[in-house]
Amino acid sequence: MSILTIEYLQRIGELNMKAIEIRNKYLNFFKNHGHKVIPSAPLIPENDPSVLFTTAGMQPLVPYLLGEKHPEGTRLTDYQKCLRTNDIDEVGDNRHLTYFEMLGNWSLGDYFKEESVAMSFEFLTKELGIPVEKLSVTCFAGDEDAPRDTLTAECWKKAGIPEDRIYYYGKDDNWWIAGEEGPCGPDTEMFYDTGKPACGPDCQPSCDCGKYVEIWNNVFMEYYKAKDGTYTKLKQHNVDTGLGLERMTMLLQGKETPFDTELFEPVMEKLKELAKEDSIESRRIVAEHLRASMMVISDGGRPSNIDRGYVLRKLIRRMSRHLNKLQIDLNKLGDLIDLNIEILKEMYPDLEKNKEIIKQVIIEEKDKFIKTLAHGEREFEKYINKAKEENKTVIDGQTIFRLYETYGFPPEITADLAAEQGFTIDNSEFDKLFKEHQEKSRLGSEQKFKGGLAEQNEKTISYHTATHLLHKALQIVLGEHAKQKGSNITTERLRFDFSHPEKMTQEQLKQVEDIVNEQIKRDLPVTCEEMTLEEARKTGAMGLFENKYGDKVKVYTIGDFSKEICGGPHVTHTGELGHFKIKKEESSSSGVRRIKAILE
Ligand code: SER
Repeated sequence: MSILTIEYLQRIGELNMKAIEIRNKYLNFFKNHGHKVIPSAPLIPENDPSVLFTTAGMQPLVPYLLGEKHPEGTRLTDYQKCLRTNDIDEVGDNRHLTYFEMLGNWSLGDYFKEESVAMSFEFLTKELGIPVEKLSVTCFAGDEDAPRDTLTAECWKKAGIPEDRIYYYGKDDNWWIAGEEGPCGPDTEMFYDTGKPACGPDCQPSCDCGKYVEIWNNVFMEYYKAKDGTYTKLKQHNVDTGLGLERMTMLLQGKETPFDTELFEPVMEKLKELAKEDSIESRRIVAEHLRASMMVISDGGRPSNIDRGYVLRKLIRRMSRHLNKLQIDLNKLGDLIDLNIEILKEMYPDLEKNKEIIKQVIIEEKDKFIKTLAHGEREFEKYINKAKEENKTVIDGQTIFRLYETYGFPPEITADLAAEQGFTIDNSEFDKLFKEHQEKSRLGSEQKFKGGLAEQNEKTISYHTATHLLHKALQIVLGEHAKQKGSNITTERLRFDFSHPEKMTQEQLKQVEDIVNEQIKRDLPVTCEEMTLEEARKTGAMGLFENKYGDKVKVYTIGDFSKEICGGPHVTHTGELGHFKIKKEESSSSGVRRIKAILE
């Protein structure tokens, strides 16, 4: 075994590489291997309402993984700012983060497994100096959708990983896809052995006892998974890799948690100094959520009660709550932001540029939260006085939930206050109510992304298809300038706004009606295809091309009559629509006319 073990190098300070040095080494390495360095996309995805935040380096690159030409070529590398909030409640332990940086390299139909494995091996062992003995790798075991990835295993063997540290796992471990549908494929993951004792004779990389830590994931993206669960081969084979910077920094510095690295340590220390009541979990939550909120605000996010804004609100409120718990004066937030900018400005120069707005947003939100807490406390007192009169000793879940939902009053605080008054709380009932509430808001946000049709039933779906027929008919009768400006559908009628400079004549209205009814009579099939925006444009599909869509769109075709970019849903045949009748034509705004129509 080489004398240059990682422990030895750490001891002599050789491996005390800072995060930014690791980032620069990575980008340079891939640059020297023919990759173009591209900038990180913003944390808030552009043109993609279907996701709240950028969660992986590949996300902004989906159109290119699907075959669209990237202006910078077929080999790319970057660092990507990412936010993942599914584990937000786990933050505070020794590893979870919401915000993190992912280093990535991509082949867009260029190199594949051999070169990808060779480059990863070289980077880890030569550039970062990780001894081969510390590395294990995993490959896809194969199933009915894709074969066993023996080629990748061979490549690892050739590079120098002994066979007994090459593991095969199934889809759960060695297949990567963002969500339910999209480009995907088998992956190979690299694991770092922390040197901790094995938890048992079966201890393997898939085990989460902490001995093995995943450090890099190379996805061989050559499949597309459709909504119905079927896999097809993509036009090109791609490589998509992701290496978490905070984790790598922690390992190379021989630290136990990312909070012990230079990225968090000064804030952790400052919090310790300020805290009157120390709790390491609370300090981690404050440090992590502060950094994440600053990154989101710097990329344009603002707190609100829905979607992205709600996530940001939750981050700031949770942070404020834990500052309270540490008994740190909330007026210290400004200083903590300054300190964080000092730590992070070299990596993220935008933070310094946006310093004032970051401070303003966080401090305003914190002030709102303090008011909320005060309201909640008054309500709590009213309740507790009454409960004492009634000789109660337990606070029921309904009350905890009402305090939480109406006043944003956190259940932990209710529990603390309750304990002070000699009360206990009924957590199980609260948990039940909370789960129901979460489920409702999840359904709500799924609904929201269905493409503007909040209420979906046979009637509204029929009106939606009728809208496409009307749009096309208007263009035939009035000319191509008659473009959609807005649409609103209820179960009773459709309303359609379109550009046209003057009132339509009775004759034009009759022509439009006749054309629509003619297409209904023809019982045309309605079909849907997914394609890139560019492909959609080429097919001549109607749609608003100015930044309204993501890079991948659905195109609905109605027989030979109309083709339009749209999220759906639609009827399957126009014959289902019934008789179309225009009820009203009026002005909507300058240069825009409005039609109201019904199906009878
Ligand atoms: N997309 C993969 C991941 O997020 C590799 O970059 O892990």
